[in-house]
Amino acid sequence: MADLDLELAGPETVPDVADDGTWLTCIECGEQFAPFDDVIYTCAECDGLLEARYADRPTFEDFEGRGVWRYSAALPFEEGVTLPEGDTPLHEVPRLEEEVGVRNLRIKHEGMNPTGSFKDRGMTVGVRVAQEVDVDRLACASTGNTSAALSAYGSRAGLETLVLLPEGKVAAGKIAQAALHGARILEVDGNFDSCLDIVQDLADRDEAYLLNSLNPFRLEGQKTIGFEILERFYEDEGRYPDRIVLPVGNAGNTAALYKAFRELVQSGALAPGDVPKLTGVQAEGAAPMVEAIEEGREDTRRWEDVETIATAIRIGNPVNAPKALPGIRNTGGTAVAVSDEEITEAQRAIAGEGIGVEPASAASVAGLRKLRERGEIGAGEDVVCLTTGHLLKDPDAAAEAGSDPEPVPNDTDKVLAHLQGRDVGSGLLGKLVGLLR
Ligand code: F0G
Repeated sequence: MADLDLELAGPETVPDVADDGTWLTCIECGEQFAPFDDVIYTCAECDGLLEARYADRPTFEDFEGRGVWRYSAALPFEEGVTLPEGDTPLHEVPRLEEEVGVRNLRIKHEGMNPTGSFKDRGMTVGVRVAQEVDVDRLACASTGNTSAALSAYGSRAGLETLVLLPEGKVAAGKIAQAALHGARILEVDGNFDSCLDIVQDLADRDEAYLLNSLNPFRLEGQKTIGFEILERFYEDEGRYPDRIVLPVGNAGNTAALYKAFRELVQSGALAPGDVPKLTGVQAEGAAPMVEAIEEGREDTRRWEDVETIATAIRIGNPVNAPKALPGIRNTGGTAVAVSDEEITEAQRAIAGEGIGVEPASAASVAGLRKLRERGEIGAGEDVVCLTTGHLLKDPDAAAEAGSDPEPVPNDTDKVLAHLQGRDVGSGLLGKLVGLLR
């Protein structure tokens, strides 16, 4: 049975600082803050991470409508700047399921959101809060997807957007999105963690509103991934999945899913024993969360040098670790690191089911395979793998992982001959081969 941390305050303890039933609480010292009076990201007392709290606890009956805002009963507002987001498919993958050897395997493909990643769920809520606190410049550090989503939602809201990216380490599709949606793109000579340090400094100096997942309201939007998985899986199978396997970078999704489940448990909508085991996957070259889980640490050690083909999760200092580590442990989950080769192999296998994902997304399936081989995941489990971003985000990685284009002559017979394995080039060698046939 899961040993959940249910320290989410309820109706009987709504503090004076609450605004329309919403407030912020520090997860370290418990200090409570008004949510929209001032711009605030971390605890003013101890710098701990903040979590949004509500007077009302959501049940499944409260959910109505479509997309992220279907779950407004668990969000600070009824609606926001929307493109719209959410309602992503929960794919069956029979061949992969058979190969991995679990009772049920589903792929929740977050690449089907408007800008091609789960970040849109966080941005629809985060940008709504930005409007509430009345800021005019939005900013984020990003390995690419956050910047693409922020640029789209910022432009839709008519707000100036600034994105800081690690130079040379962001996939082409993501930079193209930020560029076309009109963000100012600052390329930093450093990795993602340095970019985030700078954005935090800018936010502290009131130069911009920070929309990284350090902002607690981003994670409120991302909670809806958890609600959707539970609802859809239950509709199909009449039970909840045993496990959710997801790629981990800053550990925002891990924290968000844990919060979604705790809120439902607290309202009585979900039994503690039905909470899926949160299982995080990182690339071997950027695995501080895996290290912390394996070593039983309360926090993560900052990795200064990180490298992986999965550039989206090329992160050495996961800011949401204090929220996410308890999420993994208390749900009975685990964390595992996978190699770049295993990621690419998994990306091909997912593509073989018709689903195109970027490398970071494929880490989930690579991790499942590894834990299955080690026997840490049982054959009887119902598993959902989260694929976080679309294949077209990183066209170079996809081309590298896939088959090579074959040049052919502009002639049907020659194309046919080529398909039949006969090389009929026009050069001397081709003619020779033709004579010999
Ligand atoms: N998968 C993809 C495709 C991502 O873009 C990210 C994070 C993650 C997984 C990790 O999610 O941080 O919640 O653990 N991308 C951020 C960005 C860092 O800037 O786009 P997490």
